[in-house]
Amino acid sequence: MGKRILRTKLCDMLGIDYPIFNAGMGPTLMGEETGAPVDLVVAVSEAGGLGVLGGSGFTVDELREAIREIKARTDKPFGVDLLLPKNLDLGEGAGMEGVDELPISEILKMLPPAHRDWISTVKQDLGLPDVEFMVKMNTTTVRPEESVAVCIEEKVPLFCAGLGNPGFMVERAHASGMQVLAITGNTKNARRMAESGIDLLVAQGHEGGGHTGRIGTMALLPAAIDAARPVPVLAAGGIGDGRGLAAALAMGCVGVWVGTRFLCTREGGAPDIVKERILASADEGTRVSRAYTGKTLRATYSGYHDLWDKSGLDPLPFPIQIMIASALLASFIEAEKADYVTGPAGQISGIIDQIKPAAQVLEDMVEEAADILTRRLPDSVTVA
Ligand SMILES: Cc1cc2nc3c(=O)[nH]c(=O)nc-3n(C[C@H](O)[C@H](O)[C@H](O)COP(=O)(O)O)c2cc1C
Repeated sequence: MGKRILRTKLCDMLGIDYPIFNAGMGPTLMGEETGAPVDLVVAVSEAGGLGVLGGSGFTVDELREAIREIKARTDKPFGVDLLLPKNLDLGEGAGMEGVDELPISEILKMLPPAHRDWISTVKQDLGLPDVEFMVKMNTTTVRPEESVAVCIEEKVPLFCAGLGNPGFMVERAHASGMQVLAITGNTKNARRMAESGIDLLVAQGHEGGGHTGRIGTMALLPAAIDAARPVPVLAAGGIGDGRGLAAALAMGCVGVWVGTRFLCTREGGAPDIVKERILASADEGTRVSRAYTGKTLRATYSGYHDLWDKSGLDPLPFPIQIMIASALLASFIEAEKADYVTGPAGQISGIIDQIKPAAQVLEDMVEEAADILTRRLPDSVTVA
């Protein structure tokens, strides 16, 4: 069968064939590869969708290098996703200008004593090894202005703000011929972001992997579309196959922003054990907690969640809490305690049972959605 045609206004806006983006995904663990690395971006863009680099774990220099590598490997459009927190509180880790990276052991020493003691107790109780690794102190998240400047200098076709309102850079981006996307989990922010001049909005429902809000995708989409009008909306949260894509388009979205399904591909960047946990996970196999980053984040449920809940500790502010999760995760992985290993993932984990090439995920999604939308509504539906 020849290639299906499935186009929306989004395809014309960005010069792509299919209205499917891989979501921007940062590293599941400090010091690890990002969830949406160059390989995934190139694979998705080459397959006719839009590949989006997860840039939050990179340094500013690494970000520039990755962008240049994408440009060298594909001439198709692509995006870059950064986290732009409004109030970045680095606590005791602040004021380390000029420090590029630090061993995790040094960072743990800067945490409040109660959190430090808890980590030691967990390690002792479970017989976990200390695992040393370097943590970048100058990531794009800590250097938002410089990182945005790199994206503008490199004329990244689509700038995606995974956190925060990118309104402050829209004018500069447009002047460079770029487009700007923001992400929201509720209608209040949908309206606010749309008013700030962005070109596209992602509405991500509660079921999505990573940082997530309280509104389910089904309720959020129509409300966000109304609130953001005329800014076109992409659907996110719980989309993993052609059924989800068809439903999103039927509800009035111009495309989909897909995280967990693209993480579980050959090109998706996460330790194998994290991908295996997602494959093994059913629809109830995720949990929303502040244990991972300090903000509400949906991840594969693991013993780490229970340990944290029992700790009685308050989570440290984003992104400091990530140090705690990363230190323990590295030890769980080293000790092969798979039941304690977690990583950001959505409820759609329940239908993911195979690691496929990213292009295959995209093609299957297009094929199934095109089929549903042209001729295969379930038999139980009668339409006249
Ligand atoms: C492993 C992982 C890492 C993520 N990291 C980021 C990130 O760095 N920036 C961001 O905007 N969203 C991040 N997200 C959220 C995704 O961009 C996306 O909104 C979400 O995965 C959509 O829901 P789904 O997983 O059900 O497809 C992450 C999600 C996952 C699964």
